[in-house]
Amino acid sequence: MSHIRPQPFVRTDELEQAVKSIQQHFASFPEIAVVLGSGLGHFAETLSDRKAISTASIPGYPVSTVHGHKGQWVVGKCNATHVLAVQGRVHGYEGLPHQKVAFPVHLMAALGIRTLIITNAAGGINRFYRPGDLMAITDHINLMFKNPLHGLNNLQHGPRFPDMSAPFSNKLIDLAMHEGLQLGMRIHRGVYLGVNGPSYETAAEIRMAERIGADAVGMSTVPEVIAAAYRGLRVLGISCITNMATGMSAERLEHADVIKIADAIKDDFTRLIVAILERQTGNEKEVLR
Ligand code: HPA
Repeated sequence: MSHIRPQPFVRTDELEQAVKSIQQHFASFPEIAVVLGSGLGHFAETLSDRKAISTASIPGYPVSTVHGHKGQWVVGKCNATHVLAVQGRVHGYEGLPHQKVAFPVHLMAALGIRTLIITNAAGGINRFYRPGDLMAITDHINLMFKNPLHGLNNLQHGPRFPDMSAPFSNKLIDLAMHEGLQLGMRIHRGVYLGVNGPSYETAAEIRMAERIGADAVGMSTVPEVIAAAYRGLRVLGISCITNMATGMSAERLEHADVIKIADAIKDDFTRLIVAILERQTGNEKEVLR
């Protein structure tokens, strides 16, 4: 009789091969990474001395199929800061298990990334928000009912039961708020609700989301943040409010509109990321620690 054996949520051999392929491609690797959400890939193009690798050539790396997501890792310099920009994240709704969705985070951790800036497009639930606003994520609610750490654990990578009391760094939230306000942006602190998608929410679901304490809703980020907490990375999450969530305005939701607003905000958004990275190279380098 055959038995069903649980599988590890990251295969060590696959991870090691991926690490090797990256190390062969890049002479040196940064300690800070920015994961770029839908329509927010522009930041990667502003880097100098950049070198890219297609994620399709990284062993074990999940393939992105969404319009507006180009699958590549770009290593370069943002002023004096050496940084990795990840273009083309993958989502559970593409048919991938969350273990795979989180693979890039495990890979980054294995390569020495210590700080992760995760960005996304999200629908605004908080009634003070408007399309085009930004939100520094203070906490998340996982309504995906999945977890990227399902499977056999390797204690060398992280604990079986990771603490989730502070997955987002308060220092980084304060820094993002400070820099955003200095730049004259409308930036809020708020709670991100992660849902599976790909259908947008119903109006009743959004009424529920408001009651349970969500300020914005999106279809990404949660699996990566859980994996990052497990790996002990410092995380900053920034949502670009591309639309008001279902029922919060009279508009119907279209992905093209999400991309349009993300595109309209991309310069502001890039300025904010640059300002946050810049602070790291000044006197307050420890702020990102
Ligand atoms: N809901 C879920 N995901 C989203 C939305 C939304 O309204 N906008 C951008 N991503």
